[in-house]
Amino acid sequence: MEKLILEGFMGSGKSTYGRELAKNLLIKFTDTDCEIEKKNQKTIANIFELYGEEAFRNMETDYLLEKSASLDKVEEIISIGGGMPVRSENRELMKKIGTVVYLKAEADFLKKRLRGKDNSRPMLAGDNKDEKIDRLLEEREDAYLDAADYVLHIDKKDLDSVINELKGILHGRRKGMREL
Ligand code: S3P
Repeated sequence: MEKLILEGFMGSGKSTYGRELAKNLLIKFTDTDCEIEKKNQKTIANIFELYGEEAFRNMETDYLLEKSASLDKVEEIISIGGGMPVRSENRELMKKIGTVVYLKAEADFLKKRLRGKDNSRPMLAGDNKDEKIDRLLEEREDAYLDAADYVLHIDKKDLDSVINELKGILHGRRKGMREL
């Protein structure tokens, strides 16, 4: 399988693990949020502010449509935005593009990681961040599981073991083991 798609909630480390894995294997790394920012010459926060969430979600679907229409055989790690798997159309496109790994973490772990003033994530802007995290996690869990070929628990593992498990998945050594 040439392409590995990393999905998961905000703060689950999709970009960190994805970048590290690609660097390790000397293969291409793509972050869909960065692609959307480049294409629009705006930050994600600006896109939400100017055009709203729905427009951003359409941009995510457009990215997947373009990607699936121009699939190549280049090995690539793709980290996607945390809300991308919510649309069922997107989940179908993700499955078409590559092997999907859900980087799963408990709510408390994510809350700690997402603590602090960070205005780059509009879905968590304003007060009651922890409640927003609980609500979104609950809303999204089924979508993450539906899209996933593999569920990789990350909260009790160090960087190296997550990277090794991802390498195993990419190189087909984890067939038949859905949950790691
Ligand atoms: C979002 C997650 C963000 C980004 C946007 C919306 C979400 O990506 O796509 O702010 O709805 O969960 P990260 O998961 O990389 O933070």
